[in-house]
Amino acid sequence: MRPLLLFPFLITTASVAADPVITYDEHIKPIFREHCLKCHGDDEQKADLNLANFTAVLKGGSGDKAVVAGRASQSLLFTAITAEEDAERMPPKKAPLPAPQIELIRQWIQGGLRESSASKSLVVERDTTFNPTAEIKLDGPPPMPESLPSFTPPTLKRPLPIIAMAASPRAPLIAVAGHEHIRLLDATTQQQIGALAFPEGQPNVIRFSADGRLLMVAGGKPVQSGSVVLFDVKTGKRLTTIGDETDAILAGDLSPDQQLVALGGSGKVVKIYGTTDGKLRHKLTKHTDWITALAFSPDGKKLASSDRAGGIHLWDATGGGILLSLSEHKAAVRALAWRSDSKMLASGGEDGLLIWWDAKDGWPAITKTNAHPPARPQGTYGKIPNGILALVFGPKGELLSAGRDNHVRLWNTSGGQVQDFHSEAVLPLQTSITFDGKGLFSGGADGVVRALAGGH
Ligand code: HEC
Repeated sequence: MRPLLLFPFLITTASVAADPVITYDEHIKPIFREHCLKCHGDDEQKADLNLANFTAVLKGGSGDKAVVAGRASQSLLFTAITAEEDAERMPPKKAPLPAPQIELIRQWIQGGLRESSASKSLVVERDTTFNPTAEIKLDGPPPMPESLPSFTPPTLKRPLPIIAMAASPRAPLIAVAGHEHIRLLDATTQQQIGALAFPEGQPNVIRFSADGRLLMVAGGKPVQSGSVVLFDVKTGKRLTTIGDETDAILAGDLSPDQQLVALGGSGKVVKIYGTTDGKLRHKLTKHTDWITALAFSPDGKKLASSDRAGGIHLWDATGGGILLSLSEHKAAVRALAWRSDSKMLASGGEDGLLIWWDAKDGWPAITKTNAHPPARPQGTYGKIPNGILALVFGPKGELLSAGRDNHVRLWNTSGGQVQDFHSEAVLPLQTSITFDGKGLFSGGADGVVRALAGGH
């Protein structure tokens, strides 16, 4: 479950290649002619589907639209040629199409269903610009630890990988998971200010409240117990303990108004508790695998949840009803992050996909199929993991991602890469951006917090 793989080889910088332009006339029609037109051509049209000319392909058959520009995963034609079950796959009673042909069809759909090289992509460009929401005026100075209870963290033979990390949205403060405790670091000096005991077990998730006053820590002991603890940042006092799970909690978040805590893990169920009474409000039961990430939208209206099978759901945060299911990931989703304007939700997974979802209708406004492409060392065969492990948005809508290629990358609001931070041998497991957007941090598998920018 824990992403602890290390790749000891030297990594060179690889750039993200743009998909080539694939057209119906040049690439796709020949494939259809070879495999499909006998049954879906001008003479015969099984299921009323004619693939012999471009206009008819767009029209589709008796079922759903055959192709959706920009989304192979939602295109009936693509699901038909990639179906696992022989009985469901096209062409019927034949071997599946050769992989390179399937890939061409995928790229043609993703690239916007161009008819010829003169045609434009049919994918409607989404507005991904960032409009900062009016800043919430908060009383008092930025909350920093002042009088923490004295606590000496246990010393370990080997440093613990940084499984969880968070930056305060209001103060130069970073909280980092340690063995049964949380370290609090000054973001400008990276000096430790103090530590908070978490005898519940391993802290798997750390989140600050929107006002920076509270710290939520979720975790526990594998196959034994799990709970969420809320701490007061200034005093280090434990305010409340929520949930009494039979396994460590793997995902959690605190709602912006601090009224709700969402948690999940191996139980596949997302539970929403009230923080004032500790009572269970909702059980969200649509996931088919372990819950891997939970995130309330900054406006408090939605809750996003993800699982180990690649599923993402959007829920009504207060009512608990399902709003949208976002299906695109083919492997475990490792990270979810909301942009501060609540317009975009980003997801990253073990399949290498980095997606900016339009939260309004669940459309993948920007999709990077290989945002963290690892270099292939000589003599390596088979699949190299290109997964994304952590994501966080900054105050200006910028996104910081960490991946299995040992890089941390900063992206702008149109999905363009702005910066690329590369550490030779250390796998970055976590990323954080400070409240002012100036400090960029990664937390490594070697237990070290690194200032990528803005630190001393
Ligand atoms: C031997 C005949 C045959 C061939 C060849 C064939 N199909 Fe089909 N196809 C059918 C039949 C019959 C149906 C309807 C029944 C079904 O869904 O199984 C169908 C249904 C479909 C549908 C669903 C249409 C709808 O709107 O419900 C799609 C999409 C499709 N085929 C795509 C293809 C593609 C792409 C190829 C070539 C790679 C292909 N087919 C080759 C016989 C064929």
